[in-house]
Amino acid sequence: MSHVPELAVKNLHVAVEGKEILKGLSLEVRKGEIHALMGPNGSGKSTLANTLMGYPRYEVTSGEILFKGKSVLEMEADERSRAGLFMAFQYPVAIPGVSVANFLRTALNARRAVQDANGTGAMPVGKGIPPKEFRALLREKMALLHMDESVAGRYLNDGFSGGEKKRAEILQMAILKPEIAILDETDSGLDIDALRVVAEGVNALVGPDLGVLIITHYQRILNYVKPHFVHVMVDGQIQISGGPELALKLESLGYDWLREGKEVTTP
Ligand SMILES: Nc1ncnc2c1ncn2[C@@H]1O[C@H](COP(=O)(O)OP(=O)(O)OP(=O)(O)O)[C@@H](O)[C@H]1O
Ligand SMILES: [Mg+2]
Repeated sequence: MSHVPELAVKNLHVAVEGKEILKGLSLEVRKGEIHALMGPNGSGKSTLANTLMGYPRYEVTSGEILFKGKSVLEMEADERSRAGLFMAFQYPVAIPGVSVANFLRTALNARRAVQDANGTGAMPVGKGIPPKEFRALLREKMALLHMDESVAGRYLNDGFSGGEKKRAEILQMAILKPEIAILDETDSGLDIDALRVVAEGVNALVGPDLGVLIITHYQRILNYVKPHFVHVMVDGQIQISGGPELALKLESLGYDWLREGKEVTTP
């Protein structure tokens, strides 16, 4: 594959409230690829995800983030999202007063408006998705994720259980059809059936038009959503990358062997 990677992170340094968290991280994700990002608590995985999405607290002190060949560093979070970058949050927040359906319709219309401007959308410029078409789309995707239809009318994440929130995140991804999706611990807090449903939902979306970065602590979800690459982050950098076997090795050995390796190589 020689085309420009949809997501290219180059020697990224990021500080949060003056403290350096990411210390020279490089990573490329192409459409059609599934990458898993693992690593101990506090190593900077969510910091990377939040920085990719453009949250203002995360200050890029050096390095570059390219999406489809263009720097996103000057783009606001919503602009990145409309362009086709998506993130499912580790801790989704409630939006009281905004129903799931309204939230998704607004987000979809915003995303499609950008696609139309680029000449890739299926909609006449300036028109939102027709309500009937949207309801059908929503129904289809909710069925895919085994979600009860009544959820569509509830306020987003308001009073949702942990597992319901994670499902709502994947529903959003299914509706928005991003080009690159970052899933930050989408598997955490899911019961075994919910994990399978969510993983199948992700698998149904995976294909040549989508690249995925799955942040996880557990090999379990990788049994369902099979990664092509596994990266391990330690102390703000990717310490080692490999294939799916690397996740299995971590499952049995933990992270100590990596940290020990680091001590040997650090002067
Ligand atoms: N807003 C913030 N203010 C201060 N420190 C922060 C902030 N955000 C992140 N950090 C620090 O950055 C480090 C990396 O945090 P991050 O959330 O990226 O880790 P993580 O790899 O996602 O961990 P986990 O596996 O527990 O989710 C931590 O030491 C954390 O305390
Ligand atoms: Mg995290």
